[in-house]
Amino acid sequence: ELSPIDKAKFVAAKRAVDFVEDGMRVGLGTGSTAAWMVRCLGELVREDGMQIKGVPTSTRTAELARQVGIEVISLDEAKWLDLTIDGADEFDANLNLIKGGGGALLQEKIVATASDQMIVIADVAKEVAQLGAFPLPVEVIPFGWQTSKALIEETLINLDVLGRDTTLRMNGDAPFVTDEGNYLLDMHLSRIGNVRQLALVINQIPGVVENGLFIDICDVVVIGHGDGKVEVRD
Ligand code: A5P
Repeated sequence: ELSPIDKAKFVAAKRAVDFVEDGMRVGLGTGSTAAWMVRCLGELVREDGMQIKGVPTSTRTAELARQVGIEVISLDEAKWLDLTIDGADEFDANLNLIKGGGGALLQEKIVATASDQMIVIADVAKEVAQLGAFPLPVEVIPFGWQTSKALIEETLINLDVLGRDTTLRMNGDAPFVTDEGNYLLDMHLSRIGNVRQLALVINQIPGVVENGLFIDICDVVVIGHGDGKVEVRD
């Protein structure tokens, strides 16, 4: 018996795989919700003989995809994708997102951008009126990361955000390291007034590789509820 939150994630994932058709190249997201989707897809491959190729967005997802029987190829082999299905940490009414809570935002953004369509699967608790309560992850290269952090904080002074505190994501006593060998700074902004401006300005700072704001990338959000109800928004 699933808890209401897991049920919400599962029903969203289950509904989202209806968008996948035979022969498609599919971007496979990362996180606990995306993991349900990968398992559902695996079932379609094993039991219905569906032929798909999957491009994972993390080593974690690649491992799970192989385990459940999905053929895994790289993005460069795929060149383009029909569809990407991924989770999110927050989404708003414009279907803009904060992602990267699971640490995979860089590959996730590259893969989603290379896809004709991005479908986000989320439990209803992730819907927000304004993005920013969830700390915004920013991927920085390890070299001079403290300088990048200081520059980010300085830049924030002129932007429409509430908070300013930036913290290095840790994994126990050591910095968390992404699949690309980078660090993550989590920006505690509380509320982001102008998501477009923030996303552009942060990416101009030397050392910053990418940020977790996904703007005009997501096409559909499939929202799962704890009672099993599903809503599709586009
Ligand atoms: C991974 O880097 C993230 O972007 C995830 O998609 C996000 O954190 C959602 O994860 P959950 O589905 O586990 O909440």
